[in-house]
Amino acid sequence: MKRHIALIPAAGVGERFGAGKPKQYVEINGRTVLAHTLDIFTAHPDISLTAVVLSPNDTYFSETHQACFQTASDQLIVLRCGGESRAETVRNGLNALLERGLADAGDNILVHDAARCCLPAEALGRLISEAGDAEEGGILAVPVADTLKQADEHRRINATVPRNALWQAQTPQLFRADLLQRALAEGDLSRITDEASAVEMLGIRPRLVQGDSRNLKLTLPQDEFIVRLLLK
Ligand code: CTP
Ligand code: MG
Repeated sequence: MKRHIALIPAAGVGERFGAGKPKQYVEINGRTVLAHTLDIFTAHPDISLTAVVLSPNDTYFSETHQACFQTASDQLIVLRCGGESRAETVRNGLNALLERGLADAGDNILVHDAARCCLPAEALGRLISEAGDAEEGGILAVPVADTLKQADEHRRINATVPRNALWQAQTPQLFRADLLQRALAEGDLSRITDEASAVEMLGIRPRLVQGDSRNLKLTLPQDEFIVRLLLK
């Protein structure tokens, strides 16, 4: 039977957040951002395995692991094969899962940013129920709410862009393992910021599943305030 496996890239340095350490290791309510994220998946009944992909020279995970994680270790696989870009981290992690026989070609892989630590369980469940059996896969996303302006080179408004068909991509992004592996197989991964765009390049059109505004990503220092409120 098809399983759902979470793959959490956590090999970034968090340059924009600027905490002096990778943002996934910032502590909120006594536990790291990464611990909060991993627990969402290990606690979800539809997720059979959660794999986190760290940078090969990560020292923070081992230091924080004991104190932070509620998870039984058999539900969590730690891979130390992160790459230069997010897409490379995902590719390396997926290949490791397949090579070790921890995932099969027909399993669904749910790729989720380590820094999106407030994902509501119901949004995760919605993605699985609406895209879990779709050949083309799917992602959580929210319709764009604000009016969009296109800038000219002097940062003056060039045009107002109609927003009615525009969605903001979130994660998780769900694809069958063989499709995701094919999408990430070769080429320059440095410009790919999400898995869906790699799949789109194969001419496939993944589904948009209603996400949640609480599913925000810790990116800039000012994001921390809201994330702390959400995790209370
Ligand atoms: N990520 C990764 N490997 C990389 C780069 C990013 O696993 N080489 C992960 C991050 O750890 C994060 C997710 O991809 O969980 C989303 O990336 P982003 O928010 O851009 O995080 P960082 O790359 O760490 O931040 P920044 O771009 O500000 O340096
Ligand atoms: Mg980045």
